Amino acid sequence: MERTLSIIKPDGTSRGLIGEVIKRLEENNIKIIAAKMIHMTKKQAQGFYAVHKERPFFDSLTDFMSSGPVVVMALTGENVIPRYRELMGATDYRKAAEGTIRKDFATDIEKNIVHGSDAPETAAFEISYFFNSFEIVA
Ligand code: CMP
Repeated sequence: MERTLSIIKPDGTSRGLIGEVIKRLEENNIKIIAAKMIHMTKKQAQGFYAVHKERPFFDSLTDFMSSGPVVVMALTGENVIPRYRELMGATDYRKAAEGTIRKDFATDIEKNIVHGSDAPETAAFEISYFFNSFEIVA
């Protein structure tokens, strides 16, 4: 069983898409083992996305991610990392496959509704960034 970290970004929460994202998780047999709503500070967003700190979009991305509430969730399931990435669709919504969350709802490469970890090591870091062991039910 694998774990991954999902974030419903500020565009997803403000547009009323929390239920839609969770519905897709449940329909696809992906189990939520931790969840909370938080409003990150700019510093917390910078720490989360530290791997991108040299990228030109880092400042704008961390401004956006600290602009409103987000829902962070730890997910589990067999091959949940690639399976959740498939549900999300490509980072650039214009390249995302039909029926994916980003294809259906994203409006911008930055405002792309959801985040999902890209590898087991990243997932372990990202889950521990938001949750301690007492907050994870599995
Ligand atoms: P996410 O999966 O959260 O990981 C990094 C985020 O940076 C990405 O989704 C996008 O929201 C954002 N981003 C903004 N511009 C770019 C870009 N040119 N390439 C990749 N990611 C970008």
